[in-house]
Amino acid sequence: MNNKHELIYEGKAKKIFSHDDESKVIIEFKDDATAFNALKKAKFEGKGKLNCLISSKIFEYLINKNIPTHFLELRNENTMIAKKINIIPLEIVLRNIAYGSLCKQTNIKPGIVLEKPLIDIYLKNDELNDPLITKDRIELMNLLSLKDLDYIIDLTLKINFILKRFFKNIKLELVDFKLEFGYDSKNNILLGDEISPDNCRLWDLNQKNDTIVSLDKDRFRNDLGGLIEAYSEINRRINEFI
Ligand code: TMP
Repeated sequence: MNNKHELIYEGKAKKIFSHDDESKVIIEFKDDATAFNALKKAKFEGKGKLNCLISSKIFEYLINKNIPTHFLELRNENTMIAKKINIIPLEIVLRNIAYGSLCKQTNIKPGIVLEKPLIDIYLKNDELNDPLITKDRIELMNLLSLKDLDYIIDLTLKINFILKRFFKNIKLELVDFKLEFGYDSKNNILLGDEISPDNCRLWDLNQKNDTIVSLDKDRFRNDLGGLIEAYSEINRRINEFI
């Protein structure tokens, strides 16, 4: 990145730089991986590139299905150009199958297919450890109007409907995922952040028996190994399909 592009923000997996056009930003995907609010850290050479390529393809697919997103174009293998948005400090998690924190915090068994998608909303605040939050608390904190919150929830359900089918086509089960949304300068709500194996659980459907084979960041979270191989396989299947 040349120095006329100022670093605006650095997160755990991405850096955001200014763009000559003030309404845009440049997003650079890093090779760093974190889990459990960065208690666990590692670097995987090539992860940034894979997540950038996978996210770009998925954003393009969603845009074609009329989902408003911040994505504009791929700049190179590990950077994309996106519309500048003000991120709403909420992490919207949608679950199709019980796994991860849902099973740690309840007595629901891992692997149970949920009757309808479950939406869990977390406050995006590392110092507070991203706590699970309620609609009433969101209203109390004045984070956004309930009308906008309902719009985001509705959009998340639509995205799930589209992506579940998309991944099924490439023999992947979309177990759960996390989305972030933001406002552009005209106050439109856009899907932001990334959609990659870092923030989606994806299980391989090419298995003969019921064994769970995770092709996502659980490979790092649960010390399974083979993270780059898994992400490369997802990228390969997406490119074969699109
Ligand atoms: P969880 O089961 O740990 O709550 O995760 C649910 C989904 O959200 C899973 O696909 C991973 C994703 N996720 C993130 O993208 N960022 C996070 O900080 C957390 C906790 C989960």
